[in-house]
Amino acid sequence: MTTAHEQSRNRLVIGNWKMHGNLADNAKLLAALRPAVSTTQIAVCVPFPYLAQASEALKGSSISWGAQDISVQKQGAFTGEVSGSMLKDFGSTWVLVGHSERRSMHAETDQLVADKAQAALVAGLIPVVCVGESLAERDAGQAIAVIERQLAPVLAQGAESVNKLVVAYEPVWAIGTGRTASPEQAQEVHAAIRAALQAIGAGNVQILYGGSVKASNAASLFSMPDIDGALVGGAALVADEFLAIAA
Ligand code: 13P
Repeated sequence: MTTAHEQSRNRLVIGNWKMHGNLADNAKLLAALRPAVSTTQIAVCVPFPYLAQASEALKGSSISWGAQDISVQKQGAFTGEVSGSMLKDFGSTWVLVGHSERRSMHAETDQLVADKAQAALVAGLIPVVCVGESLAERDAGQAIAVIERQLAPVLAQGAESVNKLVVAYEPVWAIGTGRTASPEQAQEVHAAIRAALQAIGAGNVQILYGGSVKASNAASLFSMPDIDGALVGGAALVADEFLAIAA
């Protein structure tokens, strides 16, 4: 299967709503996003219960949607899990896998994250594989080693799979802290990720930066050669701010 983003590194901005929202607030936010016309590809990853709402509100618009997690299982006795085919039922394009909040709060391992990416691909979804080092790891000079370790089981799936996914670099110390990585700090890691992707024949995969991205810092981040877009948390809940990042 060839996906639109497989061949090119178009600008991509994805909002991760995390566990925010309710029907009334979402309706306002989605209505404000719906008319957006942009050369940037824009998407939102919403909490599971609101996938139906997002699909209704965004159908026919240029904005796509998806979820924040996926089960590695196809179906069965897996209480609380949500399968890739369920996400597809609601028209999802994307699914985040391995967000740092899931790695740290739900003990998701590098291998499980890679398995979730594979489950997403099998279901016809585009996995957004999130990686990132903690502050202690960065201070110990381990940032790139940590990211290479996190990516290894994903890259082991080979170029055919990897060319269909997106990578998001989200340094844990920059998430929700207001402390963004400098464009140069982010670029250094993005270049290392690009080199690892290139080494297996997947050099054109989109690599997003995430961590306190706002309208005021997006342009300088996007000016870096290996930053193809952003994965946006808090600022994705404010329509004007989110659209300004994409613009
Ligand atoms: P913030 O943009 O709120 O820092 O969150 C980043 C993030 O975790 C997106 O997945």
